[in-house]
Amino acid sequence: MENNRGQWGSNFGFIMAAVGSAVGLGNIWGFPYKCGATGGGAFLLVYLILAAVVGVTVMLGELAIGRKTGRGAVGAYASLAKKYSWVGYMGVASGFLIVGFYSVLGGMVLRYTLGFLINLFGGTGFGVDGFFGSWIANMPGMVGFYAIFMLINIVIVMGGVSGGIEKFSKIAMPCLAAIMVIVIVFVACQPGAGEGYKFLFVPDFGVLASDFFNVLKTAAGQMFFSLSLGMGCMITYGSYLAKKEDLASNSIIIPVADTIVALMAGMAVMPACAAYGLEYGAGPGLLFNSMQTVFLQGMGGTIGNIMGFLFYFLVLIAAITSSISLLEVCCAFLIDKRIDKGQEPARKKMTIIMAVIAFIVGLPTALDGLGTNVAGGAWMNNPAVMFNLPVMAATADWLDFYDFLAEGVLMPLGAMIMSILIGWVFGTKMIAEECEASGKPFKAYKYFDVCFKYIVPVIMAIVLYAQVTSFIG
Ligand code: TRP
Repeated sequence: MENNRGQWGSNFGFIMAAVGSAVGLGNIWGFPYKCGATGGGAFLLVYLILAAVVGVTVMLGELAIGRKTGRGAVGAYASLAKKYSWVGYMGVASGFLIVGFYSVLGGMVLRYTLGFLINLFGGTGFGVDGFFGSWIANMPGMVGFYAIFMLINIVIVMGGVSGGIEKFSKIAMPCLAAIMVIVIVFVACQPGAGEGYKFLFVPDFGVLASDFFNVLKTAAGQMFFSLSLGMGCMITYGSYLAKKEDLASNSIIIPVADTIVALMAGMAVMPACAAYGLEYGAGPGLLFNSMQTVFLQGMGGTIGNIMGFLFYFLVLIAAITSSISLLEVCCAFLIDKRIDKGQEPARKKMTIIMAVIAFIVGLPTALDGLGTNVAGGAWMNNPAVMFNLPVMAATADWLDFYDFLAEGVLMPLGAMIMSILIGWVFGTKMIAEECEASGKPFKAYKYFDVCFKYIVPVIMAIVLYAQVTSFIG
């Protein structure tokens, strides 16, 4: 790839970056409670099957499209067929919608990390009981930490593909794994932790029998977001991959690693809640409220502060390696455009431009105080109040509204269209050829052919339906 877009320095570096993208808030926060709430081991079984069949296939499709065209989301579709570049634009739009709210959450994680650090050094890192409620209505705080988190993203993405994203991920991901092991072992030693594993792993096949569709849609939506699929993130990362690297094996390694981390996160979070008698709960409350209580009041003292710091620091790493991939999708779009026009990539400038736009787009998700609204001390009202809409998940706060547009609609649609295009328009031969470019035979052609043509589109249609109804219901 003789151009100045950038390239991964090694396959290991690529894997760290891609796993870094996949491993994020979705794993540490979404996976444990969804697993527990929808049948434990039964959910896990469905999740594993979906990840193995749908996740691996979509991963392969995105990586192959990216590497074949050597372009980010928009450029890739445009170079396959001009008339499909809108599929790429859907991806970039999702990128803008997600990177903002993801960074608002990232800023909160940063705040919690610092809080425990300040406690450790004898200060008062949090102050009041019920810190969560007061923090989300603290507008200068929310916006300030949102801005700092976005700045961290800017610095890394400005550094480029191998000099920024890869370099950071190669250090951050092994750290994340190490810290996670420490937290898991520590939590396992707490009396009462056992219930948490039960909640997570003991299969409740009754749920599977009585509520199969619910389990299926929850698992499918989770799988999809957790693997960073459907918005051209893996297209963009694939476009920086050398031709000699094996696409098929990478498409398996990434989902396997992501799933392992999700399980590990479950083994840290759920037993901790169990040990200290906290609700397994759901939503932002679990990650912020409950876990903070675990460390501050459950464990308490210096050890609580140390473990709290380690835990939030690991979530912070996970969030950063994910949000840089979102920002990169937006940046690659501009950089590709410039290169096509024969200009210098000007990565630093393009990163700043995209991050500023993303920051502004994401501002409402910080300013409504996660639905606290003006009445509760925030500076902006949620979509329901602003536009006089009925209150439902998608309108209760701006974060969920954006999430609905991206994760609920644009991304499942994007993945569905991608696999239909591969299966029926561009042809699955294209994927086989791209895989064989590394010099290895593509053995599972028949299998992936069926997946792209039939299985993935059907499952994605289910995800789309399920997402829309869950946000609007
Ligand atoms: N996968 C990440 C998580 O689990 C989030 C994420 C990063 C993402 N990049 C993405 C989701 C691209 C969808 C598409 O938290």
